[in-house]
Amino acid sequence: MGKLSAGFDLGADLRTHRRAASLTQLELALRASLAERTVRALEQGSGTLDSWEAALKALGLVLSGRNFPGGETTRKRLATLRRRRGLSQEALARSVGVTKPTIGILEREGRGRLSMLQAVLTVLGAGAYLSPSDGTAAFFTHAGNAPVGQRWETPTELLDALYRVFTRFDLDPCALQKSRTRVKARVHFTEDGGLALPWHGTVFVNPPYGRGLAAWVAKARREVEERRARTVVALLPARPDAAYWHDHVAARAVVYFLRGRLRFSGSEPSAPFPSALAVWGATSDELIGLDKALPEAWRAG
Ligand SMILES: C[S@@+](CC[C@H](N)C(=O)[O-])C[C@H]1O[C@@H](n2cnc3c(N)ncnc32)[C@H](O)[C@@H]1O
Repeated sequence: MGKLSAGFDLGADLRTHRRAASLTQLELALRASLAERTVRALEQGSGTLDSWEAALKALGLVLSGRNFPGGETTRKRLATLRRRRGLSQEALARSVGVTKPTIGILEREGRGRLSMLQAVLTVLGAGAYLSPSDGTAAFFTHAGNAPVGQRWETPTELLDALYRVFTRFDLDPCALQKSRTRVKARVHFTEDGGLALPWHGTVFVNPPYGRGLAAWVAKARREVEERRARTVVALLPARPDAAYWHDHVAARAVVYFLRGRLRFSGSEPSAPFPSALAVWGATSDELIGLDKALPEAWRAG
């Protein structure tokens, strides 16, 4: 099968969702009655569709797609999309680089390899992604890893708790364009300013949770350590396994792991990932204030 540039990656998506559910590969394997090595293979994009379906079920996920028609089973939805695209099984097989009977088995029995499903979805332009089976697809796609992370607006109650300690921040370097002042700060940066400009004073930052998150966390630490900002409070997805967490948060910031899952402002369901506040450069009075203002949080550092 030829290598197709997919624009999405079912194996990597599975890994993202597993991590967002705070499960190890072994824990997911146990839940899905699979071997740990099978989960590892799935996350690398290989394995059977049966094991893939078992892993999705264990995580409460379904395969969705911008152009993917509704229907009870993936195999039927694939067949419908193929017909809509005006492709015969033979033509699809040729594009994917498999035989026609292989596509036949996929559509009749839902059997095959994950790598083939990935290729079929790509050829058919399904716009595929994984989403929770409870229908919250638009809310949760790749939290913490993809550009859609821009929409996680800080819950008002959390901001109110922070104002009890800081009254008002000097800077929000990551302000909403449509409502710049939703975080009480003297200065707000939007568009590209947040990473490019120096920070100052006490800063509250809730950066976009996309692939650029590491750059924001590195900047937060640097701005305090190089004494441009005095204190930076960052609302982050709690990802102590991430390299940037090891490099810039661990043993450098005081961390408040927030209990449960946040309900981000303007979003109905709770976030599918845990959150933490990382604070660089806090004074002891501010830490005492934060301890009181965040009684449910677990403080590390
Ligand atoms: C998660 S939202 C936070 C919004 C608001 N500050 C809050 O806490 O609710 C992140 C925001 O950062 C903005 N943003 C993205 N990249 C930026 C950059 N380089 N400089 C400034 N703002 C940026 C996005 O437009 C988005 O509104």
